Amino acid sequence: MNETRPASMASFWMPFTNNRDFKIHPRLLVSAEGMYYKDVDGNTILDGTAGLWCVPCGHAQPKIVAAVREMIGQLDFAPTFQMGHPAAFDLAEQLMEYTNHRFGHVFYTNSGSEAVDTALKIALAYHRARGEGTRTRLIGRERGYHGVGFGGISVGGIAGNRKPYGAMLPYVDHLPHTHNLEKNAFTRGEPEYGAHLADELERIVALHDASTIAAVIVEPVAGSTGVLIPPKGYLKRLRELCTKHGILLIFDEVITGFGRLTTPFAADYFDVEPDLMTTAKGLTNGVVPMGAVFTKPFLYEAFMQAPAGIELFHGYTYSGHPLACAASLATLEVFREQQIVEHAASLQQYWEDAVHSLRGLPHVIDIRTIGLIAGIELEPIAGKPGARAFDAFKKAFADGLLIRTTGDIIALSPPLVLEKKHIDELFGKLAKVLKTLD
Ligand SMILES: Cc1ncc(COP(=O)(O)O)c(C=O)c1O
Repeated sequence: MNETRPASMASFWMPFTNNRDFKIHPRLLVSAEGMYYKDVDGNTILDGTAGLWCVPCGHAQPKIVAAVREMIGQLDFAPTFQMGHPAAFDLAEQLMEYTNHRFGHVFYTNSGSEAVDTALKIALAYHRARGEGTRTRLIGRERGYHGVGFGGISVGGIAGNRKPYGAMLPYVDHLPHTHNLEKNAFTRGEPEYGAHLADELERIVALHDASTIAAVIVEPVAGSTGVLIPPKGYLKRLRELCTKHGILLIFDEVITGFGRLTTPFAADYFDVEPDLMTTAKGLTNGVVPMGAVFTKPFLYEAFMQAPAGIELFHGYTYSGHPLACAASLATLEVFREQQIVEHAASLQQYWEDAVHSLRGLPHVIDIRTIGLIAGIELEPIAGKPGARAFDAFKKAFADGLLIRTTGDIIALSPPLVLEKKHIDELFGKLAKVLKTLD
């Protein structure tokens, strides 16, 4: 296997990575199948994170691999500016069907970040198209992650992602985050405390006036800042307030879409209807980069009232790329045939019990679960935030388990095709690692 090691690792500037540490202690993956990766040394690694929340159907899913292979031989690239190809249209129809036609249209991007910026732009342009061009303010939330475009980091609420980059977008405000360990530690599903935090939107409206606000964007469950689960009633309240004030509600479902919460989307799980929804990752099973913005029919209709011509000056060279469309169509087929969402739902209780069995292990100060997601929060080492969890990450990898850490929180989000034996393996290994941490 050694021959697959790169001759040099100097030139790749790695994203969201401690480059200097990694290049001394690399973790190199060379193949993947089902629930497992293989690393360059031939070790088998259980995927506890679906890559980066990307692979609901498991790795190297044969149908998806075959569909992409077939498409690349047939149509390698086709523009979608004033042109089209059948798979892009077929996929859009199928995606709408997958939402039970609660959405009317889909705009393709190549990533979650682009989906977020697209959704924000559609929201701004929508208000302008209907003569309410004063609605230019965007509201995000503290501890929100909406990718790394300037729109996404502006509405996002992670200091490290914002502070090096100057002023960002103007006219942005933030709701408070909902994480509260004093009130909500060790919850299963939605915590009891915190629905009132949605009312902070009223404060922002009072400050700026509703006529200046275009949209609110939130992750239904915040993933990147450590699995922050919305309090009971919080998202419903946010919906009510947005409706009351004519503000569009955007759910960023980049990680919660495609079955992660044991429903097709988080919007289904929480029974709350956003006006726009951003997706990526599971949309193609992570096989080909793709994002998509789902919009309610009234949004598209507003643009179609304009004089004849291009209605929305926005798009990406690779919007609706044939390979991405092929991967996504095959992913939807696998979801139907293998009943991926139903399978995830059948394992939810077993998953939840397994995660909460870690309670009482050293340094564990919180465990929270929803769908097939878990957040395990560790007590930080004084003066070294993040160090304890990162140690867990390294030790787990060495022991054949891929976990993800953010700050001192371990976030788990396995492929949805996992079975009970994988849950046993995952938590067996993780418990062992937790017991060895300083
Ligand atoms: C909620 C959310 N939005 C947006 C993104 C950005 O997606 P991408 O990395 O594909 O740009 C992510 C990525 O993890 C995400 O979790």
